[in-house]
This record gives sequence, structure tokens and C-alpha cells, in this order.
Amino acid sequence: MDIKIAPSILSADFCKLKSEIRSVAAGSDMIHIDVMDGHFVPNISIGVPVVESLAKSITLPLDVHLMIESPEKYITIFADALVSGMTGKTKKDGTGNRDVGRDFITVHAETCGGSGALSGPAGSVEALSEVLKMIKSRGIKTGFSVKPATPIEQYESVLPLADMVLVMTVEPGFGGQKFMDYMMAKVKWLKGKLEESNAGAAGSGAQGSTLTRLLNFDIEIDGGINAETAKIAKESGANVLVAGNYIFKARNRKKAIEALK
Ligand code: DX5
Ligand code: ZN
Repeated sequence: MDIKIAPSILSADFCKLKSEIRSVAAGSDMIHIDVMDGHFVPNISIGVPVVESLAKSITLPLDVHLMIESPEKYITIFADALVSGMTGKTKKDGTGNRDVGRDFITVHAETCGGSGALSGPAGSVEALSEVLKMIKSRGIKTGFSVKPATPIEQYESVLPLADMVLVMTVEPGFGGQKFMDYMMAKVKWLKGKLEESNAGAAGSGAQGSTLTRLLNFDIEIDGGINAETAKIAKESGANVLVAGNYIFKARNRKKAIEALK
């Protein structure tokens, strides 16, 4: 399986963000950005201006993890921030021509619809679907996540709209916490759904009736990832690993990234 690594800049030195990102670029597939609002999670971190600056100055895809209430209110400005990096003119360092089709915006299912402005209440399948469609309409990849205490099965009907499903392996809000291995049940369930869908598509032959329901999403995990827990996650079916402390606090960041793959 192709394993993708997404260093979480929450553990980077914000005084020198660009060089911190450069230091992990080799071997990384995207840069994970934790956006926290102090309401959905008990911490406040990065906001729109930082995402915009990064979109304009780095070429790696960005993986924007929105840990915020009622994300429907902010999809437009985060999408605008990502799109601002697409100037159409490639600069010497490769920036300018970024393709938002490789970027992700991931929202938390629990709080989609919290504004009351969507077709379903907070946490509903309808609200989550609507938010994912908002993201998709901007040409950006869609992700949704659930907190450790939130069951994932209730969102099965939303899976066809997802390019990525993020399983939190810590309570969102802070880096450096302990990996919850019992979250692997969610990873395995997601992997099972992917396999069922692939088998269905293969079995449908020329009829292709089930092809329309084909699922195609990455399974990302976030929280407490190190070489040991990465192994558990990969064996369970995860293919995108977010890591903050393990990479940024390592003496040799390149080796740390390699150890996760
Ligand atoms: C936690 C964040 C994570 C965090 C992971 O709420 O979503 O992305 O940065 O940090 P580590 O890898 O240190 O657990
Ligand atoms: Zn995160």
C-alpha cells in the first residue's frame, strides 16, 4: 500500500514556518494544518491568513483540518485562501501554479450544520453532505472526521462524497497525546467498506450498476503517531499518517518520516 505522510505544523516553530516546512518536504506528501477555534476544541491555533500565506509560498499539497464549529460558515474563505495560491504563473521556486485539486479541506461531522443554515441539524448526514459538496464545488478534495467518541457508521451514506476520512486517534486540540489504539476499529470498518465497494464494482462487470457507488477515499489517522503506532495503523488499513511531535521533535526529521512509511 502506498503510504502518505502529512507532517502537522502544529508542532513546528511558527517563527520560521517556511523553513520548518522545507525541512520536512522530502518524503512528505502533504502538509497538515490544524485550524482550531477554541470552541469545538479547547485550543486556538492557525487561521485563514496563515493558510493563505502557505498556499502562496509552498508547492506541497495542503491538508487543512478544520476543528471549528459550524464549518459551513468558513468553507468559502478557506477555499479562497487555497485558491489564492493559484496565480497561473510559476515562480522560480515552483510556487504560483499550485493545484487546489490536490489540497484537502477536512471538517468534523459532529458540527456541520451547527449554524442552522443547512438542510439538517448539527451532526446530521444531510449537513455533512452539504458541507462536503461546498468543498467539492471549489475543486478541493473533501475530508470528514469524527472525534474518538463519535461512531463512524452513522455516516456510511456520506462515504461516496469523501476523498478522505480522518480517524482521530487522540481527542482533538493538542499535539503530543497518546495514541488510542481502539480507534483502529473505525479504520478497519472504513477499510472494509472500501473493499466491499471495490469487490462490488469488479463483480458488476459490463453492467457497471454498482460502479456509481464506488468508494474512493484515503483513510487518514491523526494523533500520537510514531514508528510503532504507525505500524498498527497501517496494518489496520490507514494510508495517510499525520504526525506532529514525532517528526518535528526528531533529531533527524528525514529519518523520522522514513520510519513512518
Ligand atoms: C490534534 C491535531 C493533530 C496534532 C497531532 O488535535 O489534529 O494534527 O498536531 O500531533 P501529534 O502527532 O504530536 O500527536
Ligand atoms: Zn490534525
